[in-house]
Amino acid sequence: MWARSFLGIVTLVLVVQDAAAFKAHDFKTCSQSGFCRRGRALAQRAQEAKSSWTSPYSIEPTSVVLEEGAVVKAGVKSSLYPEINFGLEVRIQEDGVVRVRMDEASGLHKRYDEAASWALISNPVTSRSVKWTVGKKDIRAVYGTKKDIEVVISYQPLQVTLYRNGKEQVVVNGQGLLHMEHFRKKPEPPAPKTEGSEEQTVIEPPNPRAWFEGDKEDDLWEETFGTWTDSKPKGPESLSVDINFPNHGFVYGIPQHATRLALPSTKGESPTFTDPYRLYNADVFEYLASSPVSLYGSIPLMHAHSEDSTVAVFHLVGSETWIDVSHDSEKSTQTHWVSESGILDLFILPGPTPDEVFAQYARLTGTPVLPAQFSLGYHQCRWNYVSSEDVRTVNKRFDEEDIPMDVLWLDIEYSPDHKYFIWNEKTFPDPVEMINDVAATGRKMVVIVDPHLKRDSSYPVFEKAKELGVLVKPKGGEGEYEGWCWPGSSSWVDFFNPGAWDWWKSLFKPYQLEGGAWSWTQSTEDVHIWNDMNEPSVFNGPEITMPKDNVHHGGWEHRDIHNINGMLYSNLTWQALAVRSDPPKRPFVLTRSFFAGSQRFGAMWTGDNLGTWEHMAVGVKMVLANSIAGLSFAGSDVGGFFGNPDPEMLVRWYQVGAFAPFFRAHAHIDTKRREPYLLASPHKDIVYSILRLRYAMLPVWYTAFRETTVTGVPILRPQYIVFPKDKNGFDIDDQYYIGSSGLLVKPVTQKDVTETNVYLSDDQIYYDYFSFATYRGTPKGKHITVPAALHQIPLFIRGGSIVSTRERPRRASSRMAYDPFTLRVALSKDDTAKGDLYLDDGETYTHQQGQYVWRQFVAEKNKKGGKGIRISSTDLGKLKPTEAVEGAPGLTTYDPKNVYAKTLEDRNVRVEKFIVLGLKNKPKSVKVEETGEELAWDYIPGAASTDKKGGMAATLIIKDPKVKITSDWSVLIL
Ligand code: GLC
Repeated sequence: MWARSFLGIVTLVLVVQDAAAFKAHDFKTCSQSGFCRRGRALAQRAQEAKSSWTSPYSIEPTSVVLEEGAVVKAGVKSSLYPEINFGLEVRIQEDGVVRVRMDEASGLHKRYDEAASWALISNPVTSRSVKWTVGKKDIRAVYGTKKDIEVVISYQPLQVTLYRNGKEQVVVNGQGLLHMEHFRKKPEPPAPKTEGSEEQTVIEPPNPRAWFEGDKEDDLWEETFGTWTDSKPKGPESLSVDINFPNHGFVYGIPQHATRLALPSTKGESPTFTDPYRLYNADVFEYLASSPVSLYGSIPLMHAHSEDSTVAVFHLVGSETWIDVSHDSEKSTQTHWVSESGILDLFILPGPTPDEVFAQYARLTGTPVLPAQFSLGYHQCRWNYVSSEDVRTVNKRFDEEDIPMDVLWLDIEYSPDHKYFIWNEKTFPDPVEMINDVAATGRKMVVIVDPHLKRDSSYPVFEKAKELGVLVKPKGGEGEYEGWCWPGSSSWVDFFNPGAWDWWKSLFKPYQLEGGAWSWTQSTEDVHIWNDMNEPSVFNGPEITMPKDNVHHGGWEHRDIHNINGMLYSNLTWQALAVRSDPPKRPFVLTRSFFAGSQRFGAMWTGDNLGTWEHMAVGVKMVLANSIAGLSFAGSDVGGFFGNPDPEMLVRWYQVGAFAPFFRAHAHIDTKRREPYLLASPHKDIVYSILRLRYAMLPVWYTAFRETTVTGVPILRPQYIVFPKDKNGFDIDDQYYIGSSGLLVKPVTQKDVTETNVYLSDDQIYYDYFSFATYRGTPKGKHITVPAALHQIPLFIRGGSIVSTRERPRRASSRMAYDPFTLRVALSKDDTAKGDLYLDDGETYTHQQGQYVWRQFVAEKNKKGGKGIRISSTDLGKLKPTEAVEGAPGLTTYDPKNVYAKTLEDRNVRVEKFIVLGLKNKPKSVKVEETGEELAWDYIPGAASTDKKGGMAATLIIKDPKVKITSDWSVLIL
């Protein structure tokens, strides 16, 4: 039996740990995957044939119709198989995104065409104003406010090209690698020789398709990997398509891979990787820190970027996909995507700015959800806090040491034999009291619920799933699929089956359901959920997951939906938590596996990383890649999941974590305890100050989250997003800006560092957040060297920003609701600054009915008096109540006198301090303009604060200005 007891788990883990390191033999390379091998061989033949290569796919001109004047529909033929019909549909959406769909028409079987129904928030609206011109060789449409975009669909060969100002942006099938393997009948095996039959030499006619498909059938009908055989009941159905970006030298996205943000090449001259990037959600034990190997989640979205424009493609397919990336010059990128099954459903996002690409993608798949405030605090986790007493002790230790923490986590050992939802009565005899004790300190708990159900007739969750008939089926579609995971023999709920949905949601109700249905009564609304192992991880399955020929609802094979599977699970859990309380409260769900659209349901983390410097560094890049693919709420295990980081590494890891949207320390069961209070000084004090810094900055994070929920622009912004025209920044992925705050951070991820290099893109003053030292960029960009000893975080405020913080140390974010604010006003070289602050109750959905406070702070030269600086606060809620991309939960019904704002006003939530950086002269007086009241202040002169070399900023500290956060006011510095 698989580990049955806690001790068993420990032993098992030790054995597994000993074997250590990434097990390459568990996962396929392209050459071990039939359809990938076929796809790459096709590309190789095309490359060898050079200019004599032409795509066999073409549009039949007589078949072209314009449905309702807006949707191009055409029949497509391949010269290889003239008897097979394909249908093409191209439409331009209202925001200019081009959607290209192709399917086999009346094939032997149906291809999976439901990925869009899971990933998209709605069916995108087709533009009625774009006019198509149907010609003899192509169909064209010119559109855009400046009529600068043109889409051309060429007939012979089939090609779709997006131009901007006459320049090619995206070319589909430009290399002629488009290939949709049609469904076919399995050839009969040759008749066995009968006795006496004469030996005959059969001369096979030459295969006329060999130039394109190769001359032999390669794993079309069955495939083995290790001891597993994939029966491929429908035979080959792979889809190959090349997408070129002839004028874009950088591509980003397609998470999740442990690699650089600007994707290194996998083909062409001296490629960084020899295998393509793979998207096939997998539980990769001890993954490599630099590799194209597929990890836990997949988002088939790729940005292509140049100084001129940003564009993107979103290839909406849920099956295993491999992507080759190559460059034939610094300015152009070729990609080749090969998927195992599904239709072609390709979105071309025209940009042309990064922000527009984010809005276009958000209109398709939704913006990130606005998280509950507590989930932006610090999360303390390990595998495992072993008892309710252990939980209480850890919670108490944080209080004794006066360090903030918002969430205590429980991993799989809370449950007997890993029967999730049930508590181990010996170790957790009083779960509700324990949760309430934690809640009494203002904190929450997160408890893990994995998707595998122990096959045990005394386990009500398994029994009910069985009774409902909602378990995934094995090949052939009869019975229940059985595999191995933490509880031993297990089965998996098929979340594609609507019959499972209401039941799953009911499980999380912390009270007994009517009619005696079983639910998790030993829980409370203070418990939120961690969904792990949802790739799904199956210990004894091929590539540690389910066999591809397993059967899901609707008769679809697991191969068709594999990459979507994890998202459906966390989506359902999120919905379950959303409906368990009245009025509804924002749920928190952490997922390991994800797909396009997962941003609507919560947070992700980068899985089982190692406690090494390489993993710390690549974790930052992975979080950036997730962010640009929509999933901003992301982080890595602080400390590294495996191993025992030394104090220096742990400190650096806390610095990384504190600057990730999702900030959780986690550790493997076999590691030594490493809660921050176990460190010795000075490391302990440094970690404490990092935690307090994170809490002081919660208003920055929350405001950045609000912004991404309405615009889709990510929270962490690498250089190319903030300075899209500065090519020096396109390859930088170890520093980033936080939302629109103007904060620039470069976490240190190397040992023994005392200083580091930071790149400044623009001619602006950058202020060290802590020391107020100044650095001045140049119009052409500049590298600066900054101090970065262990206690120092390279964190800068860009001149022109106003940053709001709350600096009173508290034990949890719930205790900060009415705390006063400090505003850091970092003046630009022109003596201006701007910043916004968003606040709501952090818990319910009343913000969607206008219950929030959204202020804009502006510092500018005092126009009225002609002298000095004026800092003012205005109500941004009144100014921009409807700013949101369509489909996003916009803040549409703002009421300036809303109950939430009124509460802050009544409780006198105010600004308690201004720190004004970069004044050119010592002020004579500082006062509130409206009341004329003179304020107390201190001034520390700067040292060459704005000269080209940098120096120390002049610092004005205005004490207790008595201005409310909810009111309009102006403070004059004269
Ligand atoms: C997986 C998770 C890890 C968790 C462990 C036990 O390895 O990635 O975070 O601690 O399972 O549940």
